Amino acid sequence: MPCPYDACAKDWFRKKGVRKFLTSKWAKVVVFALGLVPAILLIVDGFTGGLGPEPVTFIEHETGDTVLKFLALTLTITPLRKLARLPELIRFRRMLGLFAFFYVCTHFLTYLILDQRLSLAGMWEDVAKRKYITVGFTGFVLLIPLAITSTAGWIRRLGGKRWQALHRAIYVTAVCGVIHYYWLVKSDVRWPVFYAAVFAVLLLWRLGDWILKRRKQAPAVAPATE
Ligand code: HEM
Repeated sequence: MPCPYDACAKDWFRKKGVRKFLTSKWAKVVVFALGLVPAILLIVDGFTGGLGPEPVTFIEHETGDTVLKFLALTLTITPLRKLARLPELIRFRRMLGLFAFFYVCTHFLTYLILDQRLSLAGMWEDVAKRKYITVGFTGFVLLIPLAITSTAGWIRRLGGKRWQALHRAIYVTAVCGVIHYYWLVKSDVRWPVFYAAVFAVLLLWRLGDWILKRRKQAPAVAPATE
């Protein structure tokens, strides 16, 4: 007899050892090590002359790209864990989100220290004048409270519902990041459009999931009685 999708998927992943690995401490170590790869590659490039003729722009581009990748990975966890019936994946969401924050800090500090020579006045002038900096800065600022409240203690303090509502700001950050990227590229918009499509799919999936949940929760209309 065919088994239901839920049970089949769970069983398949259990047989392949995926679930066991995902719940092990090694899985977190592997994800952490992979998260450090872009930073390590940049450091290696720095020591081997691989940063090109415009090293600051190179670092800004690499770290900016990496932020978008980690934002996309963080937002992929929920749809993936539901579609693949792998609740264990939730263990990695916080770490991926914090990596997005780590790389956006690196991105911002590269701009502030190497581009603006630590001039806060220069930075504010840029934030006010150049619209792609304004929108990038907004995305960055929105991530700060999310990183601070990412701990179990803060989830308890805020309560699940309020915490979830606050953490929806990550969608706004993703949108800001894509607009920032779209506005700064001069001609070839293929990559910003690609990221826009990725985030659109991830956000639309959530909308669909939310609508389905609401429909299920809605009380059935009682048949009219004479
Ligand atoms: C969530 C926040 C942000 C995201 C996702 C993001 C993403 C990106 C991306 C994808 C790029 C281009 C990479 C490429 O061309 O391959 C970039 C470049 C850049 N970003 Fe950001 N960024 C963010 C915040 C910021 C902030 C806060 C600042 C400064 C205040 C900033 C300043 C810059 C600069 C100066 C460039 C290089 C522009 C050029 O081509 O000269 N970004 N960013």
